[in-house]
Amino acid sequence: MEFRVKRAPRIEAEITVPGDKSISHRAVIISSLSNGVCVLRGFLASDDCLRTVQALRALGIKIEHPEPDMLIVHGKKRLLTAPAGEIDCGNSATTMRLLAGLLAGQSFDSRLVGGATLSARPMDRVILPLRKMGANIVAEGPGETAPVKIHGVKLRGARHELSVASAQVKSALLLAGLFAKGKTTVKEPSQSRNHTELMLDYYLVRTVREENDGGISIFGDQVPESRDFLIPGDISSAAFWLVAAGAQPGGHLLVRHTGLNDTRTALLGVLIRMGAQVREAIEEVDQVEPRGTVEITGVPLKGTVIQGREIPQLIDELPILAVAGALASGPTIIRHAQELRVKESDRIAAIAHNLRAMGVQVVEQSDGLEIQGGATLRGARVASFGDHRIAMAFAIAGMFAEGETIVQDVECVRESYPGFEKTLDEFVSSKRVRLTTPVISSLTPTKTDEE
Ligand code: S3P
Repeated sequence: MEFRVKRAPRIEAEITVPGDKSISHRAVIISSLSNGVCVLRGFLASDDCLRTVQALRALGIKIEHPEPDMLIVHGKKRLLTAPAGEIDCGNSATTMRLLAGLLAGQSFDSRLVGGATLSARPMDRVILPLRKMGANIVAEGPGETAPVKIHGVKLRGARHELSVASAQVKSALLLAGLFAKGKTTVKEPSQSRNHTELMLDYYLVRTVREENDGGISIFGDQVPESRDFLIPGDISSAAFWLVAAGAQPGGHLLVRHTGLNDTRTALLGVLIRMGAQVREAIEEVDQVEPRGTVEITGVPLKGTVIQGREIPQLIDELPILAVAGALASGPTIIRHAQELRVKESDRIAAIAHNLRAMGVQVVEQSDGLEIQGGATLRGARVASFGDHRIAMAFAIAGMFAEGETIVQDVECVRESYPGFEKTLDEFVSSKRVRLTTPVISSLTPTKTDEE
């Protein structure tokens, strides 16, 4: 499958995006451990999140899926049972890493396998700290990669100081901590997305934020209290359309019901630095995850620097921000983003390759990119590299290019954004209705971290 994209007409639209991927994974896992029935609405029925659903079913949890975005999870008070066979995590690293933490402290053995791209990704980042808690866990692939074999044991709490700001690792350790004796603490070098912490709070699992940012602690042997949960739209999916509208002078877009957790919205600050007019209104925080509307008005963007503490808070948005940089005047520099090398593809190499194919000058660094913006993009045949966010970012680039852009092998988009193609088609063929109800508060510009 491929996307064929042509220059888009002016955007004037109002949209919603499917449920948040990170929150959907966590909602399935934590409600499965709870003491009763939990109804999850706004669930993202993407390939990745459905892997987590299948995994929990294989572990003995009844999960009904009556509507595409609704799950009914029958929690069994932390009681999981041995899976009949190995658990296939597909290409979902979140599934594999979070489950590694969850399964390390069970009374049975398990084996986690993955597809080709996941099997190339590092697992030592969860395995090594889990071993510190007594886990008996090995990565069977070359260089500490999947399959991951777990011999369940009784874990003991430990203090972890992570070298990488990773929400997946933090979450795996917190889940392991729920099944460990005593206290488990995780301290990150800088704040990554905090959905696991918020959801544990919401399900009444006691966690403690240590003083002077000593990290977050969890105590073992707690049972999450069953509750319903409404998952907001995924700001990482909204990001593609926000950049499309923000980079188009006169473009105007409202994204409704999107997640606005401030560990996920650094993208908005970057777009403001680049000159776009962005307004945000948080409309609901009743279920711990803030949700609301983002409004963006497009201008000729100017280049910026993205680095430091901002990086973990917009790590998934860097492919589309690189495209924004190519559309902006002057250079855009991305630094401290070496994590991009170990995502669904080597995203630094993939972005550089595709931008060059479209006529953009790019210098690839070990931890980032220097993009010379302002040249007219040339339609080209570009690769997805099997990576959903690369495929979607370059579909948006095609909306600004002269001639046709063909993005190849785009099946991977299903991992995070079923329905992307339909919205793309609506934007490119201008089928979107005019509809704009202004939002109320505005965001103040954020500064990039000094080195
Ligand atoms: C995720 C965390 C991020 C992100 C990934 C989802 C999560 O990865 O890139 O798409 O749900 O915890 P890292 O935690 O490895 O940075």
